[in-house]
Amino acid sequence: MNVINQTIEELKSQINIEKLPKHIAIIMDGNGRWAKKRFLPRNFGHQEGMERVIEIVSAASNLGIKYLSLYAFSTENWKRPMEEVQGLMKILVQYIAKELDKLHKNNVKVQIMGDINKLPEFARKEVIKTIEKTSLNTGMILNIALNYGGRDEIIFGIKNLLNDVEMGKIDINDLNADKFSDYLYTKGQPDPDLLIRPSGELRISNFMLYQIAYTEFWLSDVLWPDFTEKHLLLSIIDYQKRNRRFGGI
Ligand code: FPP
Repeated sequence: MNVINQTIEELKSQINIEKLPKHIAIIMDGNGRWAKKRFLPRNFGHQEGMERVIEIVSAASNLGIKYLSLYAFSTENWKRPMEEVQGLMKILVQYIAKELDKLHKNNVKVQIMGDINKLPEFARKEVIKTIEKTSLNTGMILNIALNYGGRDEIIFGIKNLLNDVEMGKIDINDLNADKFSDYLYTKGQPDPDLLIRPSGELRISNFMLYQIAYTEFWLSDVLWPDFTEKHLLLSIIDYQKRNRRFGGI
């Protein structure tokens, strides 16, 4: 049987709820190609991609995933045509307008990875409103990577660390890999257990470079606008079959 022909309930029955990945990271890719295949402008792909964000956030939260990190806009994405960048910002604001109440009701806490100071005012305002409104929620943490780059994040961490050293808050000799994690956008969160990249690309594209040291990858040819809850469940089933050794034997 083609596994994707299974129902959501059948797929769920194969998941061990006790051993869910705590943190899932997703590089949402393939929106442009999805639109091109349909002779549509690229922003139609992003629009459909937003619908998948809604579906996957809700599925992950209902399943009991504690942390979900979504790569929405990279530091390199500013190089895209102005029309596409504007379109993406509008889709982000549209997402917030449509989903903020539901996210809040579902106890989801929204956090941003990246420097939002560079976002256009209309988008930054909505993002700040979302962070504030959901700040006391205790359910799933949804990290949205916006104007995010993994190398930038490490430099951001080093600057914060140097500041703390200067203020005498940390002795540099006490620094270790775990303590450095607290200088990143994902402060206090476990590293991703599972990283999903749809669309057939086999690269990391500057996403969570520090945090993915021992992350399991799940790659698929399906384009993000076609990525459904079933794909998420499949990735978790596959993840649960892996033998994670973290460098041991
Ligand atoms: C990569 O596809 C996708 C992006 C750069 C944007 C991801 C954004 C969304 C899914 C929209 C909404 C997001 C949120 C958080 C509400 P691509 O354009 O690089 O596709 P291609 O490789 O086929 O050209």
